[in-house]
Amino acid sequence: MKTIVLTLSFAATLLVPWAASAQEAVKKCMACHTFDKGGAKKIGPNLFGIFGQTSTLPELAGKGVVWDEAALMEYLENPSAFVSAKTAGAAKSKMALLVKDPAERKAAIDYLKTLK
Ligand code: HEC
Repeated sequence: MKTIVLTLSFAATLLVPWAASAQEAVKKCMACHTFDKGGAKKIGPNLFGIFGQTSTLPELAGKGVVWDEAALMEYLENPSAFVSAKTAGAAKSKMALLVKDPAERKAAIDYLKTLK
């Protein structure tokens, strides 16, 4: 029995290292977002294919915000400051998470790029 358990967990670590680290990059986001194609809206919108797209947020409508690397780096660091800057202070973001670590933001963005 012990051998079976060990074999299974060994096989699992061999099979899913990439998937595990990719998910790790957006673990914090999963409380509020889904990432699969056609996934449900949770507290925030589904993020499948968001990289390179125009923002779907009503407060950013018509502001020409396209989610490229630079926009996402800025948004994820401080969503409210980003939305406020784009709307001349008229709106704030409803996304209550600040990702302070640039490497962490980059990892999340790299994962978003793969979703197409
Ligand atoms: C506490 C909940 C919460 C967490 C955690 C969270 N978000 Fe959000 N997110 C939101 C909400 C709510 C919105 C919609 C914001 C609004 O309406 O102002 C949003 C919007 C977004 C948008 C803009 C989508 C669009 O259509 O323009 C992106 C991109 C995004 N989040 C990425 C992320 C990433 C990446 C993470 C993890 C690092 C994350 N979010 C973590 C709640 C969250």
